[in-house]
Amino acid sequence: MSSAVRPPNYDEELVPHYEVPDLLVSEAGDPITGSDSWEQTRRPEVLELLTAYEYGALFPPPDELLVHDHSTWVRDGIRFDQSRVELRVRDGILPFHLLVAAPTTGLTRATFAGLNFRGNHTIATDREIWLPEAWVPQEGISQGHSAADRDRGAHLSRWPLELITGRGYSVATVYCGDFDPDYDDGFQNGVHGLFPRERSEDTPGTITAWAWGLSRVLDALVSEHADSSAPIVAIGHSRLGKTALWSAANDRRFGGAISNESGCGGAALTRRCYGETIEAITARFPHWFAPSFARFAGRDESLPVDQHMLLAAIAPRPLAVGSAAGDRWADPRGEFLSLVNATSAYRLFGVRPGLPFQLPAVDESVGEAVHYHIRSGDHDITRDDWVHYLAYLDRVL
Ligand code: GCU
Repeated sequence: MSSAVRPPNYDEELVPHYEVPDLLVSEAGDPITGSDSWEQTRRPEVLELLTAYEYGALFPPPDELLVHDHSTWVRDGIRFDQSRVELRVRDGILPFHLLVAAPTTGLTRATFAGLNFRGNHTIATDREIWLPEAWVPQEGISQGHSAADRDRGAHLSRWPLELITGRGYSVATVYCGDFDPDYDDGFQNGVHGLFPRERSEDTPGTITAWAWGLSRVLDALVSEHADSSAPIVAIGHSRLGKTALWSAANDRRFGGAISNESGCGGAALTRRCYGETIEAITARFPHWFAPSFARFAGRDESLPVDQHMLLAAIAPRPLAVGSAAGDRWADPRGEFLSLVNATSAYRLFGVRPGLPFQLPAVDESVGEAVHYHIRSGDHDITRDDWVHYLAYLDRVL
């Protein structure tokens, strides 16, 4: 964090008075009273505003998606499918490694599609899993920017595959760096390289690049399992939770979205300025967002959007928001209030969000059509979070 960035506020008394933009009034000032005017007028406006002021323009889909080198194996009642997928556009090719873990019964209630932080080999110890060919982050488990064998299973606890597949669900994952390495290179590499453009206020940031990648995971799943009617639910933790929300908001083929501690630029209301702020996030991660977002550093209240709009764009599909009590940086209360504010879009479809007015007790699960929980503990995605998400999806799917 640069020294000019103000320290975070963790005092509720110091949260400024704020009003979030009204979901149910169009930019022209017309009331939005039903699902038709939401779908035809307000949702497109919301997505346009989020594009212009926060995440940047969307990339077009690739011309072609080719699946190569398919391999499969079974371990402990889990069937693993691995493939190398090539995305082709006029000016280039982008390869990624797709790993799917499914129940051996071949029946899936739903597939969780989520990017991972450090490589597919970190989510399980199976030696069959290929190491990423792309740049990997150095901090934490890896040494240098190449993936290494010693990192196998390093993020096992984040992906409890036995639990998930045992409950009849599948997981499809890709290393986020296959789509865009997580460092500031001036919007050049990864997906950016496929669609070169002049830098402008709405140049897409890495979150848009990752969100595009998550839609390609969905493309690959649909092309491989065209006969399956099981929904595909976008999931992500933290920066990849921001990604899951932005991807599902734009791509209606996702049957739902799960945000785990996505915080600032994810589920949390920006205007509360609690924990991470626009100033802090754009100073440390300038490449995540469109250049326009940083213009609102220190004046969060004048941003024409707030994060309840991102959540609302997912309505009426299932949506779960999970926080952790110790993760003040991601502002659990701000994540809850954002979801509460988004429910006006859900009501337009006649569904009952069923959320309480107050932040629920730690480890309690609340909501009907949407879900919220705040887990005890710190910033992470754990087996307990998955237990909440599985119970919610069992109920609503
Ligand atoms: C940092 C960042 C957050 C982000 C998190 C993560 O803490 O400030 O915005 O969500 O990293 O991705 O783990």
